[in-house]
Amino acid sequence: MADQNNWHDLGSIAKLSQKPVQQIEVQQTKIALIFKDSQFSAISGVCNHVGGPLGNGILEGEYLVCPWHYYKFHWKTGEGEPGFEADRVPTYALKTEAGHLWVDLNPLKTRNKIPHPPLALARKPERAPGPLRVAGISTTVMDLKYPRVSTSELLLEESLRHAKAKGFDTHLLKLRELKFRHCEGFYSKDAHACIWPCSITQIDETDQLDQVYEDLVHWADVLVLATPIRWGSASSLYYKMTERLNCIQNQITTHNNQLIRNKVAGFIITGGQDNVQSVAGHMMGFFSELGYHLPPFPYIAHSLGWSMENMAHNVHYVQRSHALKEAAQELVDRCAELSEHLISTNAPNTLIHRAGRKAYKAERHHDLE
Ligand code: FES
Repeated sequence: MADQNNWHDLGSIAKLSQKPVQQIEVQQTKIALIFKDSQFSAISGVCNHVGGPLGNGILEGEYLVCPWHYYKFHWKTGEGEPGFEADRVPTYALKTEAGHLWVDLNPLKTRNKIPHPPLALARKPERAPGPLRVAGISTTVMDLKYPRVSTSELLLEESLRHAKAKGFDTHLLKLRELKFRHCEGFYSKDAHACIWPCSITQIDETDQLDQVYEDLVHWADVLVLATPIRWGSASSLYYKMTERLNCIQNQITTHNNQLIRNKVAGFIITGGQDNVQSVAGHMMGFFSELGYHLPPFPYIAHSLGWSMENMAHNVHYVQRSHALKEAAQELVDRCAELSEHLISTNAPNTLIHRAGRKAYKAERHHDLE
């Protein structure tokens, strides 16, 4: 038995016992070393989910919590939490000699991964045959019980009415009606911690942003997004949503996986004061980075400007404006024309070009000689 062991000196016990949990790498084996109740234990430092560094996690009772998406493994047995015991990470034997801690790199128990059923969102995006599909997303915030008039939403509804009249399928999502969490910065932990479908969607089954993901990635050919201008920027709900869309873009960095392909986006921007071009600039830049195509003149907008800020008048103006109604219809026409062209040419389904941050794979830190 003795010659089957693969013992390695980890260092002095006095030093190693100073941290309750630490990630250690010995000969390319990643180990989570735990010191609890005056005892050491060693389990794999690689999480069963998508490889998070367990040794950077925290202890919660008898369990080590993965820092990426919070899977838990018993600090001694490496087994998942109650109900998931079969989902196990390797464990390692330890011994002490002359004040030093040693680990046997041949695991006592091997890894056992229990596959979790994939979410429907994880399926490969493939356009189902049928009429053009136009999704509208309104980012306006208001009281659900006592709604008010939203000028951007009025124009969005006009766009969708027009799309329907042309024989397209339409779907309207109002972000204010969805309960969804803020992005919690998984990408800031590690590019590989920001996963698709979104980490929060996988962790929290009550989170309703899956409806937006479904429309954006799978259902819609055309996205028409409407926002009010709030202090010179798009609505707070717009930003809450876009931060959660990082997982779509990050797939390019981590998996060469372009989820948005052959899709078109157009924008509707209205506000009592000006700053249309700045809001439009953000929207065009962001959705281009997701992979959307923009038609010529990709946005329509309305603002009465700094010296004309009069909200009651502003609402009345938009409700009665033939020009804005026509502009909302023409925006859909431009988007649809480009979309039909993209669908008919059926661009290849592999990522050919990389750009910006996505020019580099997650493993590459720089491209200097
Ligand atoms: S990688 Fe550990 S929970 Fe996701």
